[in-house]
Amino acid sequence: MHKLTKENLPRHLAVIMDGNGRWAKQRMLRRIVGHQKGVETVRLIVEECSRLGISYLTLFAFSAENWLRPKTEVKALMALLKKYIRSEIARMMHNNIRFNVIGDRGELPVDINRVIDDAIAQTAGNSGMLLTLALSYGARQEIVHAARQIAIDAASGKIAIDDINEGLFSDYLYTTRIPEPDFLIRTSGEMRISNFLLWQLAYTELYFTDVNWPDFDKNELAKAFRDYQSRERRFGKTSDQVQVGGTAVGDITRHR
Ligand code: IPE
Ligand code: IPE
Ligand code: MG
Repeated sequence: MHKLTKENLPRHLAVIMDGNGRWAKQRMLRRIVGHQKGVETVRLIVEECSRLGISYLTLFAFSAENWLRPKTEVKALMALLKKYIRSEIARMMHNNIRFNVIGDRGELPVDINRVIDDAIAQTAGNSGMLLTLALSYGARQEIVHAARQIAIDAASGKIAIDDINEGLFSDYLYTTRIPEPDFLIRTSGEMRISNFLLWQLAYTELYFTDVNWPDFDKNELAKAFRDYQSRERRFGKTSDQVQVGGTAVGDITRHR
């Protein structure tokens, strides 16, 4: 296995934090206990990514489809989220982390939105890692939302039909100004995307581990990063082209 080098770490890491429920079930505990343990992993991984100099960390915390879970679990998750965000502001300030949320915030309870606004406002001046939580997030919903906004702006003459290209479309997504993820980690052994960042993941390196999220730790993160560093990102080119040109940068739309 390669040694971890600080130079070739992903600029943007995205994570599908999965397996809290199974972690709890294996221990005859309630699912919510798994979520509580999962929050501890979030703290640990956020801190470690910030320490390693990762610029963007995006965590899938609650999907648009997760609203369909039993009411008691949804309620417990919302309470946990509120508590987590509120309690993390001080630590984010200490670590120079900027906080951000993507997703359909209109679906979230008012009190959570208030805490989110507060965390965003308080950390807005920080210049370190951008921590984005995907909450009530679904990629198809995000793409449809963008298409609708583009249609509105085209109809009102704010943009011309000829202006519509991949760059403009990206600007209408929730992830405006965030570069596409270089690396995606999904825990718990599931090998699917589950409606996460469908547009943005076009050329992302994917990594799946059987470890459940509550058991994921710094060593598992280092293992994942070592795997990332062993990969060759070609973006459609040949291996020779990429090696001559040095490190390929993840902007696949540049030539268009
Ligand atoms: C991930 O863990 C957390 C959320 C989706 C909120 P799960 O709750 O999906 O855990 P499993 O997949 O049931 O084990
Ligand atoms: C994806 O996990 C969503 C989050 C991690 C927040 P799920 O557990 O909801 O995904 P599926 O249902 O197994 O695809
Ligand atoms: Mg799951």
